[in-house]
Amino acid sequence: ASTLAEGAAQHDRYFGVAIAANKLNDSVYTTIANREFNSVTAENEMKIDATEPQPGQFNFTQADRIYNWATQNGKQVRGHTLAWHSQQPQWMQNLSGQALRQAMINHIQGVMSYYRGKIPIWDVVNEAFEDGNSGRRRDSNLQRTGDDWIEVAFRTARQADSAAKLCYNDYNIENWNAAKTQAVYNMVRDFKARGVPIDCVGFQSHFNSGNPYNSNFRTTLQQFAALGVDVEVTELDIENAPPQTYANVIRDCLAVDRCTGITVWGVRDSDSWRSYQNPLLFDGNGNKKQAYYAVLDALNEG
Ligand code: G3I
Repeated sequence: ASTLAEGAAQHDRYFGVAIAANKLNDSVYTTIANREFNSVTAENEMKIDATEPQPGQFNFTQADRIYNWATQNGKQVRGHTLAWHSQQPQWMQNLSGQALRQAMINHIQGVMSYYRGKIPIWDVVNEAFEDGNSGRRRDSNLQRTGDDWIEVAFRTARQADSAAKLCYNDYNIENWNAAKTQAVYNMVRDFKARGVPIDCVGFQSHFNSGNPYNSNFRTTLQQFAALGVDVEVTELDIENAPPQTYANVIRDCLAVDRCTGITVWGVRDSDSWRSYQNPLLFDGNGNKKQAYYAVLDALNEG
């Protein structure tokens, strides 16, 4: 294979990228994105502040720019993200208790109904656990509505679009020995045991000196898959883009049957939220980096 999408397709997996709507008029950007990737995640445009700027008034203008570009170019879309403590519109930040809980439910219903049958996979809940050794939920206005907010979000999502794949998505849960990883694992195990609808777990995989790649990532993917959920690498970027580390992540996913695909969090280094770390597969001029060739080789190995 000579592109990332073709390379992943050899293993029945997708290779995706985060896309920003305001870059769709940059032809260097769209040429690379269209050639190399077959799945698209909106970097910001499907988040709560973008899609429901005023209570009950949904706006899909920016989201649809991404959706239309993706589908016109034959790509699948991953929905990101429905319930999150961050990037909430001001009106939602001001809510608490039952009113916030109901607003979360309405938001999930509004966005998922609009994209019903169009977006097959959603990050329903994003980043609900704390970093560090506590293994606790992250404090947030949503968490303060009660511990059951996550399962309510998933049940609401299943009702809104029964065909969509429903994911829990988080960062720093790649290392099997981390307390945060274990906490998410225990939540998913509990959800499966009690019949709370969850279909997949997204491992964002923002690797850097504070959260370095560890070879036990493969164990993590295997352990979650063994609970009966698919696993995905959803926001991959690696500080300084070491080619070997990129290749290891690819091999870890290919080694686990239920690892259905990999998404990198941006096209060129200059597009990255951490551009100063040069963490992606293409440099600022759109040239393929060593990490790109390492990823393609890893996809062509098996
Ligand atoms: O669009 C406004 C612009 O009008 C304004 O002038 C400018 C001034 O700050 O801000 C612009 O919005 C920024 C937006 O990106 C679009 O560029 C926000 O400030 C900025 O906070 C936002 O950052 C995004 C971040 O999520 C916010 O949480 C990043 O682009 C995006 O890559 C990042 O993505 C997250 C995933 O959703 C979840 N996992 C972690 C990942 C990295 O943080």
